[in-house]
Amino acid sequence: MKEHILIIDFGSQYSQLIARRVREYKVYCEICTPEISPDRIRKMKPRGIIFSGGPSSLTQKNAPRCDPAIFELGIPLLGICYGMQLIADHFQGNVGKASSREYGRTELFIDDSTDLFNGLGKKIVTWMSHEDKVIDPPAGFKPLAHTRNSAVASFADRKKRIFGVQFHPEVVHTPQGKEILRNFLFEVCGCKGLWTMRHFITESIRQIRSEVGNGQVVLGLSGGVDSSVAAVLLHRALGKRLHCIFVNNGLLRTGEAEKVQETFARHFHMNFHYIDAEKQFLRQLKDVIDPERKRKIIGRLFVRVFEREAKKLKNIGFLAQGTLYPDVIESCSVFGGPSAMIKSHHNVGGLPKKMDLKLIEPLKYLFKDEVRLLGLELGLPEDVINRHPFPGPGLAVRIIGEVTKERCEILRQADWRLIEEIKKAGWYKKIWQAFTVLLPVKSVGVMGDERTYENVVAIRAVTSLDGMTADWARMPSGLLARISNRIINEVKGVNRVAYDISSKPPATIEWE
Ligand code: XMP
Repeated sequence: MKEHILIIDFGSQYSQLIARRVREYKVYCEICTPEISPDRIRKMKPRGIIFSGGPSSLTQKNAPRCDPAIFELGIPLLGICYGMQLIADHFQGNVGKASSREYGRTELFIDDSTDLFNGLGKKIVTWMSHEDKVIDPPAGFKPLAHTRNSAVASFADRKKRIFGVQFHPEVVHTPQGKEILRNFLFEVCGCKGLWTMRHFITESIRQIRSEVGNGQVVLGLSGGVDSSVAAVLLHRALGKRLHCIFVNNGLLRTGEAEKVQETFARHFHMNFHYIDAEKQFLRQLKDVIDPERKRKIIGRLFVRVFEREAKKLKNIGFLAQGTLYPDVIESCSVFGGPSAMIKSHHNVGGLPKKMDLKLIEPLKYLFKDEVRLLGLELGLPEDVINRHPFPGPGLAVRIIGEVTKERCEILRQADWRLIEEIKKAGWYKKIWQAFTVLLPVKSVGVMGDERTYENVVAIRAVTSLDGMTADWARMPSGLLARISNRIINEVKGVNRVAYDISSKPPATIEWE
């Protein structure tokens, strides 16, 4: 990557947000921990470095610091909040406790708009969150802005090209923060904004080819966005040397297996291995009710089936995975955020560790929305790109109680009608996930003159940004009525539909 920004993460909850903002300006960036060595940075040749904020105080003994030589690399540097205090401390300014901490919306008065604040006027709204502050800037550093409580809310040593801001330009609560970051990237670092998906594709293909050499690669294709995009990218680079294994576990939605085959085998002409393992999965799930046991059984069996198929292929040297950047950051973060824990039970699609294959992860520097853009650029159909997430254990965690072929079929029939109506009403894209859940209770109803005693289906439809928190979707009552009518009239075995109106937390998105 020719034009590149390095973000050093001092434990900020906003580090990924800084990265998103930088990439929005078409400048490639990576996040690393403070342990990074100056030598490594020299080799990477970034155009600029950004120090994130962080929860620590420099007065604490084990507050995170980086190698002091990083300040002397001659690379432009922007310190945000704690990052600014680190800069001040390194160059022997005075950092101390603020007499009154600044938190939330704070007015910033701009005293120097030469570069960082170019084009922003005299006063802007910023978001602050700090107890310590820079009391005196180090020698050579000039204050650029102040607030009512901080005389030095931003500073710069222009000769060294080092800047600091006490507030968070990356959050939406600093409405003009984007412009400040843009000024840093373009005015200070001299970036041009060259990073496009096309550029990423060319670069990735080159990298994949050099990594794989003459080798062969196997990929577990689920039909979800990440593995689908990884498949198409790898296929561009390797052609028939990529082998995709698709396991039909019998827990998929209507038409899903066919759609995946049509897209990858027939449209893209990939080496596509379709494994029908429905019977095995349903056999092992017989009489199993506990959700976690279901997950474990499905996860383990998936690995076994995948391994068996992969072993049949000759000369495989690499295992490809559609890992995304947030997972990489979480798993290597020295600060080990709580999100790492929350997600652990979701990794049932985990792939064999003992296969002795080298791992290849072509999407590991991308965020989800970038993966979607990449998929479109690679020619994947829009309905594959914009699909709602679907859990690895599939319908098994949407059938409360025992999973049988018949119950899967009832759920499939209901789910398909729900999605069709939501799409027709133009609601599919507004919703993070929508699906039906089959309950283990029966209820009394009446059809014609007959009393019925049939299944209950619950509809779950939520809005969310990342799946971590969610709210139930306020779908119009007319749409809900159409969905309910269709399911009850058309799906044999269902006589009642309920709408789940719980938010996450405290409820989860899936029922199991
Ligand atoms: P919950 O139910 O925890 O789900 O609110 C959050 C997101 O994760 C998906 N999910 C899973 N994905 N394997 C997966 O691959 C799982 O076991 C699993 N459980 C939940 C869920 O669909 C939602 O998008």
